[in-house]
Amino acid sequence: MVQELLSKLSLEEKVNLVVGVGRPYGPNGPKRIPGATGETRLVDKLPRVVLTDGPSGVRIEFVDGREWYATSFPSPVVLASTWNPEIVEAVGRAMGEEARDYGVDVLLAPGVNIHRHPLCGRNFEYFSEDPLLSGVIGAAFVRGVQSVGVGATPKHFAANEQETNRLIIDTVVSERALREIYLKPFEIIVKKARPWAIMGAYNKLNGKYATQNEWLLTKVLREEWGFDGLVMTDWGAGDNPVEQIKAGTDLIMPGSDIIVVTLLEAVKSGDLSEEEIDRAAARVLKLIEKSLAYRGHRPSMKPDLEKHARIAYEAAAEGVVLLKNNGVLPLKKGARIALFGTGQVETLRVGTGSGHTHPKRVVTILEGLKEKGLRIDEELSAIYERHLLEVRGKQLVSRFLYDEPHRWPYTLVAQPPPQDILKDEQVEEIAKRNDVAAIVITRLSGEGMDRKPVKGDFYLTDDERSLIEKVSRYFHKYGKKVVAILNICGPIEVVSWRDLVDAILLIWLPGQEAGRVVADVLVGDVNPSGKLPVTFPKDWSDVPISKSPECYPGVPPEDPRVVKYCEDIYVGYRYFDKHGVEPAYEFGYGLSYTEFEYRNLRVEKDGEKIRVSFEVVNKGSYPGKEVTQVYIKAPQGRLEKPEKELKAFKKTRLLKPSEAERIELEIELRDLASFDEKEKMWVVEEGEYEVMVGASSRDIRLREKIRIEGTRNYKP
Ligand code: BGC
Repeated sequence: MVQELLSKLSLEEKVNLVVGVGRPYGPNGPKRIPGATGETRLVDKLPRVVLTDGPSGVRIEFVDGREWYATSFPSPVVLASTWNPEIVEAVGRAMGEEARDYGVDVLLAPGVNIHRHPLCGRNFEYFSEDPLLSGVIGAAFVRGVQSVGVGATPKHFAANEQETNRLIIDTVVSERALREIYLKPFEIIVKKARPWAIMGAYNKLNGKYATQNEWLLTKVLREEWGFDGLVMTDWGAGDNPVEQIKAGTDLIMPGSDIIVVTLLEAVKSGDLSEEEIDRAAARVLKLIEKSLAYRGHRPSMKPDLEKHARIAYEAAAEGVVLLKNNGVLPLKKGARIALFGTGQVETLRVGTGSGHTHPKRVVTILEGLKEKGLRIDEELSAIYERHLLEVRGKQLVSRFLYDEPHRWPYTLVAQPPPQDILKDEQVEEIAKRNDVAAIVITRLSGEGMDRKPVKGDFYLTDDERSLIEKVSRYFHKYGKKVVAILNICGPIEVVSWRDLVDAILLIWLPGQEAGRVVADVLVGDVNPSGKLPVTFPKDWSDVPISKSPECYPGVPPEDPRVVKYCEDIYVGYRYFDKHGVEPAYEFGYGLSYTEFEYRNLRVEKDGEKIRVSFEVVNKGSYPGKEVTQVYIKAPQGRLEKPEKELKAFKKTRLLKPSEAERIELEIELRDLASFDEKEKMWVVEEGEYEVMVGASSRDIRLREKIRIEGTRNYKP
């Protein structure tokens, strides 16, 4: 079919197929869905395929007076914190349904770049510092989206782990680190979920723009991994459309008439062959053929926002990570709660940039607690409401933070407004008349800009610190407890203040149902079961990339051209383990209102697999789910190996007190391999491997050794 269509098209038509349209949203913008992120051009009588962002829901701007409301799902970092591929698949399916119902053919998600740097501005749009967790969660997301006939687009391929100078920066990284850490999530997704498309990144990779990099787009992606979908550019990526098509890019986004002319001239002058255009055009045709538009689907324009709100709620609830709890949570029935901080009103659902959506409503923390009928100190909350209106102006609070956080100015949203606005006497009075304090701390980040290791970003502002000190002083004076609620885009420094509070609840940027989730977790209707998909460092200076501006340019120098991935494969916990650096909270960490015991480990080799099974028992008094993690320590042989690497994980079902579940997992020997750059082979070396089953990367509960006889080599 594709070949038949192709043979009927003129060269000009074929070139028009490989160059899209996109923003700006004026007369040259998308036509079928005005406000969508992009479309293919009108060629012959073929339908135009509509592409739109993004990772936390379907994003269509209100450019035609129409209200394109879409569910604001939890940010991807929350999805990864669930460690639950089933719930992530349900989220993907719901997003796919909304895309389908609005006539969108391809969703520009998921984002699967690695949290190499804790302060990358877009980390909330990405899953994890670990390639396996990113890949498994990403594959579930893609399966969900595609199960309803909408395409998914894992992005940004590859090595786009920072926003600073993202359009021109050259990421310099060893082939081993690239393959084991940065390409791995894409590889897992391509092999397990067969995405329709992949988005090439803005940056250069080892000297060549990712979208102009034949090794990446053709050799690795297609020849080695068998990818049979379409590669599109990120919006405006690269500097040479001819090289892009030659390297294996199929669709240049958002495209322009100038690019069409450039490609036509290149074919005429012989710089580009018609076969190369045909190859890309055929892949665009194949995408068109798969699209709902081609199959005559008529969008209902009525997505089931109520059903999807429930899915968004469930995923956000499963992604809550309890970082600390000195017995205060869940709160006692009828407890009087004093809510401090502007975040109770200005609750952040998502970060800024292309990954936002327009939900019909957002349940703030204050609204969520009220809706549940909890006993809030209304007078105190009203003080914060009035204060915020003064600081932001009514317009700004609702427009910038709830509806359209993608609209800059960043300065307005990045720095939290003053929080410590009450006198000592007032706080003392509030402490007397309430049972518990909850302090909301917020941090927002977004596309186009990285966070900074400064006060008001990675560190608390002096004002936030003094609020925490003051509230703790008076509440503790009257024997009452203090809970911190972290409504944040990524890790912040916690060590210097965590002893002042009794509990810390991390909700990240949880989407539109934020307040309901917080209310249910506070009173124990939801028992937290999320675990950290990233390390929380004690201090910025503990992060490997803080050591040299070459390894993480931006702080300073402000205008870098190159970023070297100096830590190589030692990213996240792999670094902290290797160098014996104690994190504040380690990868995989998260508490529950109950306790779990691990027992009866069995490890067996079965052909080219290792079977690991063990039991988890709920030893406490609340029903709960536990994220179990299997790490493997490989022998140090020819290739240096990390202390441990996550090789499998599984969340239990909801276990009642004293209920047990037997977890059975399989690990392919092949997945223990490291990449040998000299031999250009994946290698599993012979020797003794330690299988570690844990509740986190540092809370290992069961261990057993197993021997692998005979070194194995696998072709990439
Ligand atoms: C972002 C992509 C996004 C695209 C279209 C780019 O700036 O990097 O993630 O899909 O815009 O909105």
